[in-house]
Amino acid sequence: MEGLLTLPATDLRDRSSTARSPKRNRNIHLQIEVRNGWTMIRVNEHFFKLQSSYLFSEIAKRVAAYRAIHPGKDIIKLGIGDITHPLPAACIKAFESAVKEMAEKATGYGPEQGYPFLRDKIAEHDFQARGADIAADEIFISDGSKSDAGNIQELFADNIKVALQDPGYPVYLDTNVMAGRTGTFTDGRYSGIVYLESTAANQFMPELPSEPVDLIYLCFPNNPTGATIDAGTLKQWVQFACDHKALILFDAAYEAFIRDENLPRSIYEIPGAREVAVELRSFSKSAGFTGTRCAYAVIPKSCRVYDAEGGRHNLHALWKRRQTTKFNGVFYAVQRAAEAAYSPEGRQQIRHMRDYYMANADLIRQEMTALGLALSGGENAPYIWIHTGQDAWEFFDTLLHKAGVVCTPGNGFGRCGQGYVRISAFNHFENVQIAMERIRAALATTSRRGAAVPIDAQIA
Ligand code: MLT
Repeated sequence: MEGLLTLPATDLRDRSSTARSPKRNRNIHLQIEVRNGWTMIRVNEHFFKLQSSYLFSEIAKRVAAYRAIHPGKDIIKLGIGDITHPLPAACIKAFESAVKEMAEKATGYGPEQGYPFLRDKIAEHDFQARGADIAADEIFISDGSKSDAGNIQELFADNIKVALQDPGYPVYLDTNVMAGRTGTFTDGRYSGIVYLESTAANQFMPELPSEPVDLIYLCFPNNPTGATIDAGTLKQWVQFACDHKALILFDAAYEAFIRDENLPRSIYEIPGAREVAVELRSFSKSAGFTGTRCAYAVIPKSCRVYDAEGGRHNLHALWKRRQTTKFNGVFYAVQRAAEAAYSPEGRQQIRHMRDYYMANADLIRQEMTALGLALSGGENAPYIWIHTGQDAWEFFDTLLHKAGVVCTPGNGFGRCGQGYVRISAFNHFENVQIAMERIRAALATTSRRGAAVPIDAQIA
């Protein structure tokens, strides 16, 4: 048979094992071209719902366009959170000796879950030392928290309800859009998603959901607002997940920047979290591994998910099954370098690097406050979230064109980010000083209607 054929989506499902759930598609009719019994390669149309480009690619595009017109102009990047310091000396030393070792004997494939030498150190230093009951074999080494945050949703049914912070790291949302868990994008929001609004009015700490949700993405210290969570509030989220059989994906990629000793660093410091939470951590920002790539996911063996009949399943086993099919582990020498981050010298060098970036954050907070801009973050996080009082992309353009400084427009993180920009503390101190001087000069000549609204006034 040849020509155009119109089919209800359920009919198509009968013919193709890869089609989506009949419930969702019941009213959709698809027109397919049939040629001698052959169909054609078809695209995942959920991708068409995504915004035209990924936030940081859009920024890079705008910066490249600006550079093309102003080739000699010096640009200071305080946009994407990318490190400017090399790997700590202890990590480099371990890296080099691992490569030498590889010249002498083949290392071959490593364990998919990561080498025990690294997992043991993580369990001991990052969890057990703080009283969090996490064992080495509950840790999965990966090539980055971005991959883990994007991949984990594969394990869940396509009709679960997803809740995420607005503003939030775009990967959580985009990957659920790609998977078909949302409707279309209207007025800055996808239908089907529960947005946990984090605004000045709630001091960037969202309320517990008031409607049923299944998967909750929480990021603390928060990217982009820099907000932190205290143990009492985190306990409420854990209790909520226990009560409603939900799961929390706790992204703690910025944990190393917490300076306040009273704040929890891991969700597993909260009793009951082992059953209801997955935690993501990264060496990217803490130890300068953004380009080197090393991170880890923690999925405790008691962490549970349910099937449609309410049967309980082990999430750890499912993730392990996924990883063994799709992942072959992280480069041996990179894992040796990450292991060295836990040596006494490594820990000291990392603390020094953290303090260096946080001194930048202190300066940014001080300068922006002096300009009368309301802000949050930068105290226990490397990001400063600034209320601009104008369209976020417009403010981004002002800083780029008038100051030669790149920031990140807040609405790239969600609708609640409109009117805000995020300034990253990752750069050399001298560059941050110059950037602040240039911003001061640029804003002196630019009208900033409504920018100088103190955060307390916004809350009121
Ligand atoms: C950011 O700037 O938000 C991060 O660098 C992005 C990332 O870690 O992927």
